[in-house]
Amino acid sequence: MSKRNPGGLDLSRIVYVNGAFQPEEEARISVFDRGFIFADGIYEVSAVIDGGLVDNDAHLARLERSLREIDLAMPASKEEIVRLQKELIARNDLNEGSVYLQVTRGMADREFQFPKDVKPSLVMFTQSRVMIEDPAAKTGIRLKSVPDIRWARRDIKSVALLAQVLAKQAAAAAGCQEAIMHENGVVTEGGSSSIFIVNEDGQIVTRPNSHAILPGITRQSVIRLAREENLSIEERSFTLDEVFAARECFVTSATSLVKAVVEVDGKMIGGGQPGPMARRLRDIYIEAARAQASAPV
Ligand code: PDD
Repeated sequence: MSKRNPGGLDLSRIVYVNGAFQPEEEARISVFDRGFIFADGIYEVSAVIDGGLVDNDAHLARLERSLREIDLAMPASKEEIVRLQKELIARNDLNEGSVYLQVTRGMADREFQFPKDVKPSLVMFTQSRVMIEDPAAKTGIRLKSVPDIRWARRDIKSVALLAQVLAKQAAAAAGCQEAIMHENGVVTEGGSSSIFIVNEDGQIVTRPNSHAILPGITRQSVIRLAREENLSIEERSFTLDEVFAARECFVTSATSLVKAVVEVDGKMIGGGQPGPMARRLRDIYIEAARAQASAPV
């Protein structure tokens, strides 16, 4: 059994910090790290299923893009990052969960402008989580709507997540598992997930990528898999009212995979049970993820 502290940290973990694999209680990052001081950094979360990384190429492509948008280079080649991710999975004997990766602009005295000649920080850790047999996937989850108060570049996977922390805390306080964020009634995305609905005509609808949302990797895979199944998917904005009237609603993310939504703001969606489309897409996604995990490297 692993030791537990009040924050729920699994103190038996090995984490990666700037070139070294270390027990988490020994790993250190500077007080002057710009990630800590300014949230000047980018992160990624890749799912791990059957000990293998899921959609990881796409996550690393998004990492490279997010870094470019804030004028940072990749801290290592993609091949080297994958090697580190895999070593971390092996050292932690991780079967199901995720690998978190964070790149910040590094350590410098507190001045807003970019420091010169500073080496970015690279931190990675694993989180163990029940993914496939997740009980919440069987029952479906409840959402609470909150105004989207984030900045104008939500396509960048920035570590500045205070708005999402507040959104998800408000959801949790209302007995919900996720927030659904909106601007004047138009849905942007979940607190840490992409949102889909299935409308009265059986059509799957999700918001198109833009600066207004994070381009979800799971979202993209689900769209591709749905199209391969000849399911009708439309990428367009939709309102909270459309969510309330929807046949189904579901979220996608590297931590949820595909998860049905059964309630929003206390109103039942689609009879209060996970709908057939959400269940089907979850099964298809998991099948594809497992095929990746078992593919020869
Ligand atoms: N969050 N939208 C937001 C705001 C997110 O934070 C996330 C993921 C997604 C889904 O993206 P993807 O399918 O690539 O995971 C959409 C991660 C899981 C997190 O912060 O824990």
